[in-house]
Amino acid sequence: MQPSQTIAGRHSDWANLPIITDVTENERQRMLAQKSFEFRHSLTDSGSFTLENVRDLIGELLKQKKFDNIYCRIGKKYIPGANVSEALDALESTSSDTWIRLTQTDEVIPQFKKIADKFKKDLSRLYNFDVEAATIKTFATLFVSSPKEITPYHIDHTWNFLLQLSGRKTVHLFDPSDNNVLRQTDLEKFYAGVSDLKQKEGIEGIAYDLVPGEGVHHPVNAPHWVQNGSEVSISLSLGHCLHSSTRDAKIYQANYLLRKFGISPVALGMSARRDNAKERFLEFFSDRHPTSFNSVVHSGFQRITWPARRLDKLRRVAVRLINDKIVR
Ligand SMILES: [Fe+2]
Repeated sequence: MQPSQTIAGRHSDWANLPIITDVTENERQRMLAQKSFEFRHSLTDSGSFTLENVRDLIGELLKQKKFDNIYCRIGKKYIPGANVSEALDALESTSSDTWIRLTQTDEVIPQFKKIADKFKKDLSRLYNFDVEAATIKTFATLFVSSPKEITPYHIDHTWNFLLQLSGRKTVHLFDPSDNNVLRQTDLEKFYAGVSDLKQKEGIEGIAYDLVPGEGVHHPVNAPHWVQNGSEVSISLSLGHCLHSSTRDAKIYQANYLLRKFGISPVALGMSARRDNAKERFLEFFSDRHPTSFNSVVHSGFQRITWPARRLDKLRRVAVRLINDKIVR
């Protein structure tokens, strides 16, 4: 039997239906303003996506030895992908704080690939631009989490759409264009891999309560945190790594480096000439044929900062040896 049949089962209509089925007029105005917005989707129209479907999907990932596509934790303890059954056993307990992330499902299950492709067509129609051409890579990720689990405040690089398949959750989303929410330096640190982002005091986001059949859009870099309802939650995230936001990421990285040299950089978007020069500089050091999200966004920055990181590591080793009186 094909994986798509065992996992999708009665969901075989998914790829043939429009996936985004309804955006109210108010939410549509938010969508056109590049803000977060809520929508309805069709992925639960032919039945709920159950834990049994999740177990089948995990079985397929394990069979194909895609251990790196399985990421899970129980409380603060991270569980290797090969031991995912431990997380599955803990999942239904209210106090277990269990979280499972199954990444790049579209590369393993043809049905998810069809959904991701169909979804891009829906978005192109809604936003009136070619989303396929604007996207470097789409990530179809399944999130499965225990009752009451909380995903802490963070940002993502992707232009994201979260579709609730089973259970309920509340997504608290903040406006990334609000300077009180997110400063240029927050983004520079995020793209330098040293983020210390925290929710700012007195700033509240919009709380989107999602039930199966509903979804919410996260703009690129929109801070958010998530709280599950009283049952196990299953959500599908369709995240798009865009050419435009990846270019911005490289400009933030260049500005981070300039600040390290004591120079106060011109902010992104204030000078096309400077933005182009910064992008070209980072691009020069980036992988020519990137094979992963990390190599697309971070390879140039990591190559530039490699000597400094090696020196810092050597300094820390030397300090430890001196403090331990191994060398004097
Ligand atoms: Fe996220």
